[in-house]
Amino acid sequence: MFPCKGNFPTDRFETLETPFYYYDIALLRKTLEVIVAEAGKYGYKIHFAVKANANPRLLCLIADYGIGADCVSGGEVCTALKAGFPAEKIVFAGVGKADWEIELGLANNIFCFNVESLAELEVLDALAVAKGKTAKVALRINPDVDAHTHAKITTGKRENKFGINLSMLEGTLERMKALRHIRLIGIHCHIGSQITDMSPFRDLAVRINDMQVLLEAQGTVIEHINVGGGLGIDYYHPNHLPLPAFDDYFATFYKLLRLRPRQEVHFELGRSVVAQCGSLISRALYVKEGEVKKFAIMDAGFTDLLRPAMYDAYHRIENLSSEIAEEEYDVVGPICESSDVFGQDVRLNSVRRGDLLAFRSAGAYGEVMASQYNCRKLPQSFFSDEL
Ligand code: LLP
Repeated sequence: MFPCKGNFPTDRFETLETPFYYYDIALLRKTLEVIVAEAGKYGYKIHFAVKANANPRLLCLIADYGIGADCVSGGEVCTALKAGFPAEKIVFAGVGKADWEIELGLANNIFCFNVESLAELEVLDALAVAKGKTAKVALRINPDVDAHTHAKITTGKRENKFGINLSMLEGTLERMKALRHIRLIGIHCHIGSQITDMSPFRDLAVRINDMQVLLEAQGTVIEHINVGGGLGIDYYHPNHLPLPAFDDYFATFYKLLRLRPRQEVHFELGRSVVAQCGSLISRALYVKEGEVKKFAIMDAGFTDLLRPAMYDAYHRIENLSSEIAEEEYDVVGPICESSDVFGQDVRLNSVRRGDLLAFRSAGAYGEVMASQYNCRKLPQSFFSDEL
C-alpha cells in the first residue's frame, strides 16, 4: 500500500515560520543518481535549467553530481558560477540577452551561447570582436513540434517567439559566414515543458535528423545537439511515483537520433530534476463557511506558489496536522486577487486553524517564481537533512 501522505517531520515544522519551502534532500539525491546513471548509459550531457530552482543549496548539490547549468540571464550565469558549476558546462539561452549579459558569458568563457536570432548573432559577434574572443554558438531552432502541453509553456511552435524558424535556417547559415568571431558548434531545440508522453520527443528527434541533413548540405557539421528539456512529472502521485521516466526519455532519443561520429547530445532538464523534492508548507489561518463552499484560507498565496494561478496547475494538497474525516474545501491564499486559489473542491482531512498543509511537487518553478506582491515576505527554505 502506498502512503497517501508524504513523509514530513511535522513536529519540527511546528516551530518554523510559515509559509516555507521544504526540500527532501534524499529524494533529490536519488533523482540525481538516476539521471546520472540513465544519461551515462549513452554518454549524454546534462545541464540543470536554473530557472526551475535557483536555491543556492540545491544548486551546489546538483553541481556536485557533475551536471552543467542552463542559464537564461546574466543573473543566472552568476548564480550558477557561484554555486560551483564550471563555466565550461554552462549554456546560455534566451531570446533577449542584453549586452552586459553577453559580455559576462564571453568574459567567463562559457561553453555555449544558445542563440535565437540573426540579430543576436550579429551583436554577439561584435561584442566578441571587442573582447578579442570567439563565441561558441548553438543555433536555437524552432522545430515547429507541438508539445501537447499547456499553451503558456509551449515553446516549439512556429508562432512562438523562441528560436530561428526552420525555413530561415539556410539564410542564417549563409549570413553567419561573415561573422568571424562566432564558431557554430551545435543546434538547440526546446519544445515545451511538462511533457509526459514521449511522442513529442519522438517528433523532435526526427525533426533534428532532418535538420542535420540540411546543415550538412550546407557544408556544416556540428559537434553537439542540445534537445532542451521538458520531461514532465506526475503531479497527481508524488508519493508513489516520485521519479520521472528518465529511462524512457533518454532511450527515446537514443533510438531515434541519428548521430554523426563524436557528436554529443545535451539536455536541459529543470522540472524533472527538482519538482518532486520540494513542497510548500503553509498554515491554515481560517476556515470560512460560505453559502456554497467551505474555504481553507492559508497563509501562503500565489506570491509563494504561482503555478495554480498562472497555469491552472494542479498541486496535490495534504493536511499534515489532521487525520479527521475528509471534507471538501476551496484552498485559497490571502492575496487580494480572486485568482489566489490553490485548488477547488479539494478533499482534505478536516482543516482547523493552525493546521499545516503541504503543497506537493513544488520544487520546480515554485520558490524561484515567488514575488513580494502585496509587500509580502519571500518564503524561506528548509532542507530535510538540516532539520
Ligand atoms: N530549456 C529551455 C530553453 C527552456 O525554456 C526550459 C523551460 C527548459 C530548458 C527547462 O524545461 P523543463 O525541463 O523544466 O520542462 N514556469 C513554468 C515552466 C516554464 C518553462 C520554461 N522553460 C511552469 O511552472 O510550469
